Amino acid sequence: MKVFSDKVELVKKINQLKAENNSIGFVPTMGALHQGHMSLVKQGLSNNSFVVVSIFVNPTQFDNAEDLKKYPRTLERDVDLLKTVSKDKIVVYAPTVDDIYEGNAKSESFNFDGLEFEMEGKFRQGHFDGVGTIVKRLFEIVEPNNAYFGEKDFQQLAIIKKLVSKYNIPVKVVGCKIHRETNGLAMSSRNERLKPEYKKAAPFIFKTLQSAKTKFGTKSANKVTEWVTKQFAKHELLELEYFIIADVDTLKPVKRKSNKKTYRAFIAAYADDIRLIDNIALN
Ligand code: PAF
Repeated sequence: MKVFSDKVELVKKINQLKAENNSIGFVPTMGALHQGHMSLVKQGLSNNSFVVVSIFVNPTQFDNAEDLKKYPRTLERDVDLLKTVSKDKIVVYAPTVDDIYEGNAKSESFNFDGLEFEMEGKFRQGHFDGVGTIVKRLFEIVEPNNAYFGEKDFQQLAIIKKLVSKYNIPVKVVGCKIHRETNGLAMSSRNERLKPEYKKAAPFIFKTLQSAKTKFGTKSANKVTEWVTKQFAKHELLELEYFIIADVDTLKPVKRKSNKKTYRAFIAAYADDIRLIDNIALN
């Protein structure tokens, strides 16, 4: 499997594949690949002739230098894992910071019609400008037909759909279901860093989301939020950062339920110093 670190070489390869009438799927990642990523790659392979997987820990989307430093970097293992899915239909792009940013690792500033100010946007300063910058740049390099993103980062997915529509980028953005451990914990590269007692505790996040979904059938968003907040207050290891029930179109917290709208519940919580997020469709 060829691993490109130079975008000029990558583009040559992609142009050659396109000239042979191959369609290109794209899975952007920050590496530390797990079965959640593999499910995106498999979906990409079933809908395209080739899949480009980028592996790049993007500095501009981190608001916390320590988090960036500690982010796992496991390129060799990632490539081995990708080879178990396909040896000849996957192209890896693992650039340096310079190959992407050319000496100017700064974010562009975006207007995502308010999606960027909700939830993660409130707690992670500049995060979505960083995500918008890197994803736009990667789309310009790879020019894929289809691009695959997990619903675990539902807000990111909504923002990327907005980016593509605002900038008329000719790519179909495909949202893929959250991949979970058998205990319900949403798969994430951060899970690797959980100490054993926190790993054991973390499925509480999804269990609480499931109970919140049941309660939302009969109770208001406020009541469900109060209940979730209490459950976390009683928990010894997990600290709730936010729980929000939001309209999926605007991502704004629901004030009064309407059966014409579609809602989702979102959680961010700390397990020790590791920040985990998850969400669930409510109706
Ligand atoms: O979801 C991620 O892993 C990252 O935010 C992405 C989309 C690869 C951009 O760096």
